[in-house]
Amino acid sequence: MTTLNAPDHVPLPQPVLAPLTRAAIFLVLTVKPEPESCATIRSFCSDLAGLIRAVEFRDIDAGLTCIAAFGSEVWNRLFGDPRPAELHPFREFRRGNRHAVATPGDVLFHIRAGRMDICFELATQIMERIGDAVSVADEVQGFRYFEDRDLIGFVDGTENPRGSVALGAALVGEEDALFTGGSYVLVQKYLHDMKAWNTLSTEAQELIIGRKKLSGIELSDTAKPPSAHTALTVVVENGKEVKILRDNMPFGQPGRGEFGTYFIAYCRTPRITELMLENMFVGRPPGNYDRLLDFSKAVTGGLFFAPSATFLEDVGEEQPAAAPAIATPPVASDPPSPTSVRDTSLGIGSLRGERHE
Ligand code: HEM
Repeated sequence: MTTLNAPDHVPLPQPVLAPLTRAAIFLVLTVKPEPESCATIRSFCSDLAGLIRAVEFRDIDAGLTCIAAFGSEVWNRLFGDPRPAELHPFREFRRGNRHAVATPGDVLFHIRAGRMDICFELATQIMERIGDAVSVADEVQGFRYFEDRDLIGFVDGTENPRGSVALGAALVGEEDALFTGGSYVLVQKYLHDMKAWNTLSTEAQELIIGRKKLSGIELSDTAKPPSAHTALTVVVENGKEVKILRDNMPFGQPGRGEFGTYFIAYCRTPRITELMLENMFVGRPPGNYDRLLDFSKAVTGGLFFAPSATFLEDVGEEQPAAAPAIATPPVASDPPSPTSVRDTSLGIGSLRGERHE
């Protein structure tokens, strides 16, 4: 049973705001159906911090961090009620041959450090503890590429919020008092068609991203098309730009022709990241979609909630009270229902708003 924080107690977040690192492992697991499997995960929750400290201390300069996050369905099985207010299964978007696909995943471990060996060690220790209770849905080792570029050659992460803006963007506040300090994490694994991408001129690639390739400088408002990636992922609400906190990582296996970007974004509400996805896949307005998707295919998709570190420390081994089942959200599909597209597109605003950084 989960002990809730006293109202006057400020929960300690997991290290969502940790700086970008040279290496990361993204481990997505499904929890086996037997009740013992859930008990194993529950008892592991309160031990995780100690395990991280033990591995971290072997090279304190490597800056090891790990975030554990949980999907909608397994939340009920593990923790019962109450639930994070906006936790739901990954919302799919489909239009034409573009598909933001939902794939299995109950638990996400986002392990980051300055060196892969220490990430590897922590992933090994985690699997040693809970391996019998889970199946591995996906495992990706990401690396930082030259000058923080993704494998399509552009500097990735420039417009990430920093400092108190990052905190305000990524962490749940008073709007969901029982889950303050938590964060919604959306992940997608993208594979790039590098052959097709490399047939484009640098100028054509820059129009797709909306930034200069070499310098990373943003194209001017007149030069940047409304379909540019960095136009469609700008979301403005009430005249203010709302941000997500990304820590994308390149990954791949050149020998197998695999070149990818592991997209990961933290936000205090999944709504903002989902709006960006809708803009990219369906288009803003519908049809004005992100041309990056002609070259990059999403092959996984999951939405998770990373509760505060305090919440994890307090998780007990007993089975929780049952919480009501959560329905899978409808796919925004092709052809989209006019109301669903219009409703969710409204209020985003297509203009770049003032920056609050
Ligand atoms: C194939 C996968 C992706 C690649 C290679 C990619 C790459 C990039 C690059 C190169 C930039 C410009 C530099 C920067 O500000 O970081 C950028 C910006 C951005 N991307 Fe992506 N991205 C991908 C997927 C996504 C997805 C799925 C989302 C959201 C759901 C997203 C959200 C953003 C945001 C919010 C910005 C900053 C926009 C601004 O304020 O100018 N990206 N991305």
